[in-house]
Amino acid sequence: MDKNFYITTPIYYPSAKPHMGHAYSSIIADFFARFKKIDGYNVHFLTGTDEHGLKIQRAAEKKGKETLKFCDEISKTFRDLSKTLNLTNTDFIRTTEERHKLSVQSLWKELKKNDDIYLSTYSGWYSVSDEAFYSEDEIEEINGVKKAIISKSSVEWMDEESYFFRLSKWEKSLLEYYDNNPDFISPDSKKKEVISFVKSGLKDLSVSRKSFSWGIKVPEDKDHVIYVWLDALTNYLSALNYPNMKDPLFEKYWPATLHLIGKDILRFHAIYWPAFLLAAKIPLPKRVFGHGWILSDDKKMSKSLGNILDPLEIINKYGIDQLRYYLVKEVSLGNDGSISMENLKNCINNDLANNYGNLCQRVFSFIKKNCDNKIPPGSKRNSTDEKLLNNLKKSLPKLKLLMDSQDLNEYLKIVVSFSFDANKYFNDSEPWSVKKKDPERMKTILLTAIEQIKNISILLNPIIPNATNKVLDTINISKEDINIEKIRDINSFNHEKELGNLEILFNKIEDDN
Ligand code: MSP
Repeated sequence: MDKNFYITTPIYYPSAKPHMGHAYSSIIADFFARFKKIDGYNVHFLTGTDEHGLKIQRAAEKKGKETLKFCDEISKTFRDLSKTLNLTNTDFIRTTEERHKLSVQSLWKELKKNDDIYLSTYSGWYSVSDEAFYSEDEIEEINGVKKAIISKSSVEWMDEESYFFRLSKWEKSLLEYYDNNPDFISPDSKKKEVISFVKSGLKDLSVSRKSFSWGIKVPEDKDHVIYVWLDALTNYLSALNYPNMKDPLFEKYWPATLHLIGKDILRFHAIYWPAFLLAAKIPLPKRVFGHGWILSDDKKMSKSLGNILDPLEIINKYGIDQLRYYLVKEVSLGNDGSISMENLKNCINNDLANNYGNLCQRVFSFIKKNCDNKIPPGSKRNSTDEKLLNNLKKSLPKLKLLMDSQDLNEYLKIVVSFSFDANKYFNDSEPWSVKKKDPERMKTILLTAIEQIKNISILLNPIIPNATNKVLDTINISKEDINIEKIRDINSFNHEKELGNLEILFNKIEDDN
């Protein structure tokens, strides 16, 4: 079985510092990457920055900075954010790197060689903010300004010599591919939009620009730079050392398992990208998932609206596990979701502090007081104990399937219910009341509770790595040893060794905080 998993985030424009929408894409991708890792997969997890094109060139000019210097500075804030978000990315690519330039130019040559690129003139609308071309029927006029209907960003008229990619030639093959690979585009609602767009007829795509120079040069025509989306999409290959398709990284990880992106860039990933790959005779990625937007005041965040949410502010105030948990739990992955401080506090208090945190704290302090701080060996479990543990174990195949279909909200709902059940089990079993008359029973209850804390912590580990690492470390399971198989591995504890000290995992947030 293929135990290799290649997941990518979009590469971010370093035109301004990262906001909550970027953090969201990255955190979700990290959840999948971490889950696959503890499920025994080799994981390659790529993120990075998309640094060419007019949008970036103008942003640098506006700040009066040399373009590459400007990119260096902002790209670093994205790289730093990856660390703050606790991402496990195995690479961070910048499109200004040599390895990427080599890949993009090689792909171009391949397309040219296969007669998929020709020279002509482009006359039409272009949005610099989206780095996208729009046809007349995709434009509206608001207060005398022409805008793209879909993104509301202003468009400008473009009329220049340009190379074109024969996108129209691939219309039929794309439709066939969608048909034969029903899982390629997700969620379903988005897939329908893509298919109907392709069915409405594809025009050839302008893939070079002559009026500015901030980009990768077209091989053998230095007057043109390559269209920023053809440049950017290729990052998924350059990180695996394309054009060397015999490179061990390429052989192991291509085709990508999952391109996780926002719904606004689905057209590029589900139409242009597979068409480029078909034309270059490179296998297509297995899946593209378009997630919804994080809304602020019920609107998409933008500088012009002044509603940008800064992930660092929330992390500094509440903590990174708290933000990760909240975003996975409260935003339904394929839909838009509004961030609310009220919900964030409730989520931290109810799920993290009162539920999982409380469970761990109670069980550990009971063991400390009554069992010399060592996990007691239990005796025979009764049916209540067995039921508690078996419910979780039996759900493993389902949980894996949910992760494979990117249903992470349902995954989390199930895992949280195990934590509620474990708290209830501990209450109802009353180890304190059998302490004197039946110490063996007390020990079995404690062992069962610890067993379940271990299991829940493993399942929550991809979402709240800091807290669960602490808990697992307390029971002598080190970070490197965390894996799903450990859930099947009943009662593998060291009963002689004292438990580590568990500090408060999640502080409750008071109202005036
Ligand atoms: N550079 C391109 C992507 C190239 S991938 C080959 C780009 N960059 S971006 O910085 O504008 O956006 C990066 C990602 O962030 C996109 O997936 C976009 O959907 C996502 N988000 C930007 N704002 C967002 C929200 N408010 N909410 C959630 N994600 C959003 O597009």
